[in-house]
Amino acid sequence: MKLAFVGKGGVGKTTLAGTVARLLGRRGYRVLAVDADPDMNLHSALGVEGVEPVTEHEELIEERAGGQRGVYSLTPKVDDVAERFAVPGPDDTSLLVVGTVEAGGAGCMCPAGSFLKALLRDLIVKREEAVVLDMEAGIEHLGRASARNVDVMVAVVEPGSRSIETAERVRRLAGDIGVERIVAVVNRADEGSIDAVRERLDGVGLDVAGVVPRDDSLVKADLENVPPVEVRGPAVDAIEELVDALEGMLGEE
Ligand SMILES: Nc1ncnc2c1ncn2[C@@H]1O[C@H](COP(=O)(O)OP(=O)(O)OP(=O)(O)O)[C@@H](O)[C@H]1O
Ligand SMILES: [Mg+2]
Repeated sequence: MKLAFVGKGGVGKTTLAGTVARLLGRRGYRVLAVDADPDMNLHSALGVEGVEPVTEHEELIEERAGGQRGVYSLTPKVDDVAERFAVPGPDDTSLLVVGTVEAGGAGCMCPAGSFLKALLRDLIVKREEAVVLDMEAGIEHLGRASARNVDVMVAVVEPGSRSIETAERVRRLAGDIGVERIVAVVNRADEGSIDAVRERLDGVGLDVAGVVPRDDSLVKADLENVPPVEVRGPAVDAIEELVDALEGMLGEE
């Protein structure tokens, strides 16, 4: 099971990615959680401390992808990176923090850009375990096609037009790069608006795989630096149901 959480800034990607990773671990999967957001904070939603980003190992990147006179490898060796740098976490998870490339941006033509692209591809395509990616907010990463081979891209939205518009853009771009399946999850949902949100999502061709209510226990967990999965409440219960739905979806194939 390879999942990527995408969507507008602040909608709950990291909260959902960390919680889904922990719940999958509790269901017996071996889970590799990957923080692919340059503004790294999946560790706190998962409950792992002290993980060094892979991109801080500049000598490794230079050795694997660097070349001479501006020539660099498009196929650097990356298949040992998860073993070397992922840190074990609770519930049979481990966390790999990708980090950032200085002066990156779309298709950074540099050894580090090439290394990161190869790494994400390797994590998604070659690994046996469940992989849960927490992506950068917005749509730029889709231009770099970093998560193109996931089984399901989960577009997180909240009740409101702006995040739904982002999800629609994500859906279109995901289609362009050949992502097989993209679904929406409504986060911070409330009774009053859920029908309207569903209708909007239906209108842009996104099936709703889960609805997670606004839940103050998540706010409290975040403030106290406790992973959300450890403070049970209606949101975590709804994320359990989301995991059921994702398992069902992938089991059908
Ligand atoms: N269902 C919810 N109910 C209440 N608070 C929530 C809910 N989901 C997320 N939050 C809170 O909203 C904040 C933002 O969530 P989170 O960091 O997961 O979003 P994000 O999409 O990863 O943001 P970014 O785009 O910055 O990476 C956090 O403080 C989190 O605890
Ligand atoms: Mg985040």
